[in-house]
Amino acid sequence: MKSPLSLVATCSLGLEEVLAAELAALGVEAPAVERGAVGWQGDWASCWRGNWRLRTANRVLLELASWQASGGDSLAAGVERLVEGGDSSATGDWGGVTPHQLFDPGYTFSIRATISGSQMRDSRWVALKVKDGIVDAQRRIYGRRASIDRELPDLPLRIRLVRKRATLLLDTSGLPLDRRGYRLQMVGAPLREQLAAACVLAADWDGKGAIADPMCGSGTLLAEAGWIALGKAPGALRWRLARESGERAWAFEGFPGFDARRFAAVRAEAIPALMKREELKIFGGDLESAALNAAESNLRRAGLMGQARLRQIDAHTTDAPCERGLVMINPPYGERLAMDPDHWKRLGDLLKQRWQGWRAVVVAGDIGKGKFIGLRPRRRMPVKNGPLDARILVFDLF
Ligand SMILES: C[S@@+](CC[C@H](N)C(=O)[O-])C[C@H]1O[C@@H](n2cnc3c(N)ncnc32)[C@H](O)[C@@H]1O
Repeated sequence: MKSPLSLVATCSLGLEEVLAAELAALGVEAPAVERGAVGWQGDWASCWRGNWRLRTANRVLLELASWQASGGDSLAAGVERLVEGGDSSATGDWGGVTPHQLFDPGYTFSIRATISGSQMRDSRWVALKVKDGIVDAQRRIYGRRASIDRELPDLPLRIRLVRKRATLLLDTSGLPLDRRGYRLQMVGAPLREQLAAACVLAADWDGKGAIADPMCGSGTLLAEAGWIALGKAPGALRWRLARESGERAWAFEGFPGFDARRFAAVRAEAIPALMKREELKIFGGDLESAALNAAESNLRRAGLMGQARLRQIDAHTTDAPCERGLVMINPPYGERLAMDPDHWKRLGDLLKQRWQGWRAVVVAGDIGKGKFIGLRPRRRMPVKNGPLDARILVFDLF
């Protein structure tokens, strides 16, 4: 019998709500929001769909088992029971894949450990105990053990220890999902793709008008907005590039039970679009020609250069290119500049005077002085930009 999969999409702190809305749009009922993650029950197709379509997730993980582990012995014993197909597995199989299939020694694996509130404090030691548990059980069952591959393992495993609870997870993504394949050139402080996508999704734009970023840097906001507008899957280019180089795009393609035909059906599912390609207009500007060069090559790889116009401009003296649309700004205010109210006032003036009629998204570092923008946001989302506190602010510019 096929048991459901317990799946978890991880994300940066602050993006949980947008990620849960993405999952709901994929037909997931009652996504469970946790700190930095959203969980759901699904099948393999829903796992593949998550990897193919989620724009704000870092990875999609599959929970294999969870058990009480107060020390190294109980930790290893739990994993041994799992590999042997015993009672530590919550489900007995994962969507039809049995522990014996998954832990076949023909599959290489790696283990990463994260620990919080446990007496076991050394994550490398914890990972070693789990590895020992797996290979000891394999030797008993198969008479041989799997190899470790730290670079590109068939099974990227994670052990999470929270106080006395151990959870073994399988990373179905492999490389993180921000590796969309279009961003090879970067300048300054580029936004991560997931955060850029979250800006666009949080703006809840109706698709009327153009997409613009007058301080576009390497063009991440424009690329993400363009793909959302066209209903292009965030995994589409990654998949094509992997096919061309003969590699796997996601770890799940190498798992037992992977069904390439069923995955093709997932890839063929229609994704709602805001417009047709011929209606899409993208405007990017930046003071720096190096930024514009990077934006151009990234947008070209993203398949959007045919719809884009990039110009060297000073955003403070350049008007909006048309009457309405979505304007996105990730101003170059690091921690020091962000504390100066004058920068925020100038940004607010720019939006009010030059982008009337547009919906605006501003994503910026700790916006302690952000109120000096002088506009009332329709949405305010505290997020993490890497290790830094940041805010996504959405405005209607009347
Ligand atoms: C934080 S970066 C944007 C990064 C971008 N979101 C990305 O992901 O690559 C800010 C950009 O604003 C540009 N910039 C700064 N002042 C500007 C101005 N007055 N007009 C236009 N661009 C400006 C900088 O050259 C820089 O590329």
